[in-house]
Order: sequence, then C-alpha cells, then structure tokens
Amino acid sequence: MKILVTGGTGYIGSHTVVELQQQGHEVWIADNLSNSDIGVLDGIAAITGIRPHFAQIDLCDLRALENLFDDVDVFDGVVHFAAFKAVGESVVQPLKYYHNNILSTINLLQCMQRFSCHYLVFSSSCTVYGQPDKLPVREEFPVKPAKSPYGNTKQIAEEIITDTTVTTELKAILLRYFNPIGSHVSALIGELPLGVPGNLVPFITQTAIGKRSVLKVFGNDYPTRDGTCIRDYIHVEDLAKAHVVALDRLITKKDTSACEVFNIGTGKGNTVLEVIHSFEKVTGLKLNYEIAGRRTGDVEQVWADTQKANEVLGWKAEKSLDEMMLSAWNWELALKKDINKK
Ligand code: WQD
Repeated sequence: MKILVTGGTGYIGSHTVVELQQQGHEVWIADNLSNSDIGVLDGIAAITGIRPHFAQIDLCDLRALENLFDDVDVFDGVVHFAAFKAVGESVVQPLKYYHNNILSTINLLQCMQRFSCHYLVFSSSCTVYGQPDKLPVREEFPVKPAKSPYGNTKQIAEEIITDTTVTTELKAILLRYFNPIGSHVSALIGELPLGVPGNLVPFITQTAIGKRSVLKVFGNDYPTRDGTCIRDYIHVEDLAKAHVVALDRLITKKDTSACEVFNIGTGKGNTVLEVIHSFEKVTGLKLNYEIAGRRTGDVEQVWADTQKANEVLGWKAEKSLDEMMLSAWNWELALKKDINKK
C-alpha cells in the first residue's frame, strides 16, 4: 500500500517507516526537517534497503500538501506524527504550538477528504489523561485539562479527528503513547534531540558519554516506592509496530467504530531511579546523577492498562526496560563514532 508518514524523519516516525517498509508498504515521508535531520533517510535505507520517498514540506502549507497528494494520486493511508512536542517550550511559546500542531492536522484532514484517502493513524499521547485518579489508566478514563499547550494540542487534535470521522468517510485510530525510549536494534536510527534533551533517557545517555556533566533527578519526594516519578517506558520499536497493526486494522476494515483509541504502553511502571539502575546494569557504567527539585508540571505517576491494545488491536509490547536502555546506549555510542568520523 502507499502510505504517507508525516514527520517521518523524526524519532518515532523514522522507526515506523522502517516497520511499514518491512511489511511491504511503499512509504512517502512529508517532513519540514524543523526538528529532524535528512540523514535519517540514509539510516532507514541502510536498515530496509529501501529509501523512502521524501517531500520536504510544512503541513501548514496547504498548497504544498495538496500538490503532494495530487502527485501521488492516492495514498491508501496516513500516519500523522508531524508536530512540535517539547512540553516546556510549548508553555513559553503557546501560539507556535497551537498554530503548528492544529493547522497541520486540519490541512491534512482536508487533503485526505479531498483526495479520497480515508484511513488515519494519529500520534496522540498519555498526556491527555493528566494525573489519572486511578492506575493503570484505561482509554475510557476522562481526558483531563492539559498541563501544557503541547498536551492541549493533542487533545484538540483528537477532538477534531473524532468530529471529522462523524461527518465524513474518515476512519481513524488514535494511539496514546506513554514514554517512548530506546533506538532501533541496528543503532542506525534513534532519538536525535536537538540541543539539551528534555527527556530522561537521552539525558542519561548523554551524561554517560560525557556530553552532559550530571543528570538531575527531578524530585525524590513523591509518594512512590523510591520517591521518584513513575512512567510507562516503551521501546520505540514496539511502539512503531503498533502503528503498522493499527493501519492494517483500518485498511482491512477490522475497526468497529469510526474512531478508536488505544493506549500504547507496556502496562508496567518504572521509577526514574529504576531506569537509571537498569542503565547502569546493562552498561556496567556508574551514572553521575544528583537529586534536584521537582520539575513543574510533572505527573507523579502514570502507566497504561494495555488490555484493549492487547486483545482488540492484537498488539503487545515485547521489549524489557534493560533492552530499551541498552539500545539507547548503543545509539549514543554510534552517534559518537559518527561525530568522530566527521
Ligand atoms: C520522565 C521522568 C521527569 C529528565 C514525555 C514527553 C512528552 C510526552 C509524554 C509524547 C519524569 C524525569 C526527566 C531529567 C528527570 N510524550 N526526568 N531528569 O515528562 O513523562 O513526558 O512523555 O507525547 O512529550 O516529554 O518524559 O522523559 O521528560 O520525564 O528526573 O533530566 O523523568 O521528572 O519524572 P515525560 P520525560
């Protein structure tokens, strides 16, 4: 099938392109490279032997997007990743986030409708749940007021997509990610945070390799088993596979409603210190970290109930935390080798 992946040179997008190609799909990537590197195409091609089609376009440019749809004739489905995703930045620059994340989604939906492309898998987030009242969190739990403009753009996009499925032929699956970490087993693609990483795992690997001097653990006074926050960390390859399964469900018309929602996590929670200890165990390194104050806006603890994804979607995460951390480290080592080569 011909599949359009928006944001396909990004972290999760690139891993999903690999999985789609390995399932025999022909992939087009639309990406404006605002937060990713064109070199990712080489990594994808090195893994799959197939270089994806690539269009450097901004989804906020409706004309450019229409031209792409016009050129390709008909996409059989779309996986929509393209969005800004730095939670902290969204607080400081809300309009940048609302404009980009919402307008790009509206433009995409308008193009899909105009060019009779009816299947959409959307990259959503567990941030829509805020701090759930109960754990593990299930899909039917209430969406809570977002803690950041970033999280709000995900909620708004979910609503726009849901409403559009009511009045058009659009069929959608919303995948609510938990915490994607790790890198492809080949270490040929991975997470490429621009600047100082906001997320835990790239900060761990950059500290271990010497790019950062120390990892600050944001708070150890939470009511959890070791005082640090709990998250549901999921290997990016497992997450990528969920997109292929979701797309197949739509294309083969197995979906039972016009807009389905699935939690994509492991169903297990780990604390920050457990992630650090896993890293130290699989690498044999001692990580330089210190306890610091809490980070504003952090959810205390969240992890997924994955029963619906396991039983209805027919997908289950397979990789362990240790495998995730080792793959993240192998990627950091590969990046260093690359830089030394240049
Ligand atoms: C995880 C834990 C921090 C950095 C992410 C994405 C967000 C969304 C949801 C997709 C927290 C702690 C972190 C550090 C630390 N993903 N931490 N020191 O906040 O759960 O959000 O997943 O939509 O876009 O950002 O992930 O990796 O930032 O933090 O102690 O230097 O690690 O306090 O408890 P988070 P994270």
